[in-house]
Amino acid sequence: MATLGVNIDHIANVRQARKTVEPDPVQFAFLAELGGADSITVHLREDRRHIQDRDVFLLKKTIKTKLNLEMAATEEMLEIAKEILPDYVTLVPEKREEVTTEGGLDLKSNVQFLKKAVRNLKDSNIEVSAFIDPFGEQINYSKEIGFDFIELHTGKYAELSGSEQFIELQRIIESTHLANDLGLVVNAGHGLNYNNVKKIASINNMNELNIGHSIVARALAIGLEKSVREMKSLITSNKISK
Ligand code: PXP
Repeated sequence: MATLGVNIDHIANVRQARKTVEPDPVQFAFLAELGGADSITVHLREDRRHIQDRDVFLLKKTIKTKLNLEMAATEEMLEIAKEILPDYVTLVPEKREEVTTEGGLDLKSNVQFLKKAVRNLKDSNIEVSAFIDPFGEQINYSKEIGFDFIELHTGKYAELSGSEQFIELQRIIESTHLANDLGLVVNAGHGLNYNNVKKIASINNMNELNIGHSIVARALAIGLEKSVREMKSLITSNKISK
């Protein structure tokens, strides 16, 4: 049975919209764990658009499950990871102008550089995962570079429908089997939601699904009515608090 990693970047997005202190992703990590999250994922981006360094340091100290730090393989991020010591790091490609991580890592063009980065993290006892598109070549390179895990990019699967989605699902299933045969642990994520998650969750040997946007969107849908009710009650109540 696959476990659930909850990505809380979008909580930080709301906070950074006002550059204030709420909502605090550290507090929401606690709530995600209460709901059954098996790990907490945050992406510390070079431009710090959502998650801040302070969040990652505090999460490492406070969460009870596992911390998955998503990051680009830059010198700056490698130093931060070695200081924080998350349970594992997921290396992702990063472009400043993108809205979210657009595609998997290009392993082929960066074998030597990534080998060094992975060794560097593993020397600090951090397990390392590669966020890759579901293609055999990428899986073979993941093995060669020395990754412990891969995270298969499900973004394309999530965007497609009907027979096209079925073909993409088969690609993800075959990639999972190939990676397992090579001894890699397989995670998956991106674009998974309440409608499309089941087929990915039921893939044999799928280790963990990393999901963010749809869970935060659902939290707003479930929680907004109650939060409006509380505000309305404060405004309309005759009692003045001292
Ligand atoms: N996995 C990776 C590597 C990601 O970059 C993201 C998005 O931050 C996710 C999973 C979660 O994607 P979503 O927010 O669409 O669930």
